[in-house]
Amino acid sequence: MYDSRLDNITSLEFSAVARKARNDGQNLISLGLGEPHWDPPIEITNHLSQIIKDSSFGYSSPYGETSLRESILSDLNNKYQLKFNLSNVMITNGAKGALTLALSSILEAGDNVLVVEPCYVSYIPQIFLAAPNTSPISFKLDSNFDFDFVQLKKVLLDKKPKCILISSPCNPTGISLSADELSNLVSLARLVDCYLIVDEIYSDLSLESNVNSRFTTSLSLFNTYNKLIYINGFSKTFAMTSWRIGFLIANNFVINRSLKLLQHQITCIPSFLQKSASKFLHVHPSWVHDKCLSLRKNLNLFSQVIEDHSLCDIISFRRPSHGMFVFPHVDLPNFDSDKFSSNLLKSKSVAVAPGKIFGSSWNNYIRISLASPCDVFSEGIHKLIYFIKESP
Ligand SMILES: Cc1ncc(COP(=O)(O)O)c(C=O)c1O
Repeated sequence: MYDSRLDNITSLEFSAVARKARNDGQNLISLGLGEPHWDPPIEITNHLSQIIKDSSFGYSSPYGETSLRESILSDLNNKYQLKFNLSNVMITNGAKGALTLALSSILEAGDNVLVVEPCYVSYIPQIFLAAPNTSPISFKLDSNFDFDFVQLKKVLLDKKPKCILISSPCNPTGISLSADELSNLVSLARLVDCYLIVDEIYSDLSLESNVNSRFTTSLSLFNTYNKLIYINGFSKTFAMTSWRIGFLIANNFVINRSLKLLQHQITCIPSFLQKSASKFLHVHPSWVHDKCLSLRKNLNLFSQVIEDHSLCDIISFRRPSHGMFVFPHVDLPNFDSDKFSSNLLKSKSVAVAPGKIFGSSWNNYIRISLASPCDVFSEGIHKLIYFIKESP
């Protein structure tokens, strides 16, 4: 069922402007998209060429290929020292597909969903599409991207949402939930008996300079809270955005419903792509480490350029811990993130994402992607800086 609220989504309008500029032949520096600039691991693409010669093109089970599910399980168990069951893991049509299935499995007409903002641009549209008359309730983080848990408890008790939806590491801020925040969220979800969906698609892309710092995964609480739903995928870490491979880890109820939905909507995710993706364990984690270094280099460059140009009072940001974005606050008179991004695109051919598309309260922010080759990133950031300096 089409929901007419989709017509007013600003992120779609902005993406269209950026696409048009590129199609019109503008030499665009895109710091707007969440798309890696590296190629997928050669071990995966080599396997794909081989499998294409072997013509292995049949349907797979709606659960997904066992080889891929087992590799995912073994990777997560190794990384986080966890133990959970293969029957709780299914392959989906990207992380977005995992989200669609999870929401459609649990939501009924008229349900509320609490979304932590700023949030990924597809969360609100996905809620609109999951069930008729569902209402997103925006819960805003403070300007340092921290929670007010007292306020959150009030909202949860008042609105009784069916689920809480959050990305950690967050798109757009790059901030991950701490162990305390995660445990507070689970306690509050338990208090009102609601699902907690945690999307960890950026969890492998660490921007921390301390190599010993470990990511706090929500999966560590999977066995203690039955209504925790975990989402992840291959698009970002392995630059496999168009392969559409993601995965969902959830309780039996959600997995059983999701299997039925997937089976009747798309039957399965292409089996040859899944089989090739299962080779990711051959390269992980040293391959990922190199990609993180290049993102970190761009983040340090961004920080340095702001300092060199004495713009710390105008462009301020909390250093992201993971992912491929930085989400600075821009302190200019009458700043409007939409106008700023459009004018930057027109005058300097640099695309950044306006903060407004991640929630109405974030109009003083812009999202900058770190995923570009260093020379391209540097040129884009310098153009952005000159644009800000030229601003009235
Ligand atoms: C937080 C978040 N979740 C999910 C997705 C979608 O991932 P996929 O390409 O695997 O559907 C994105 C893509 O930008 C994202 O930022």
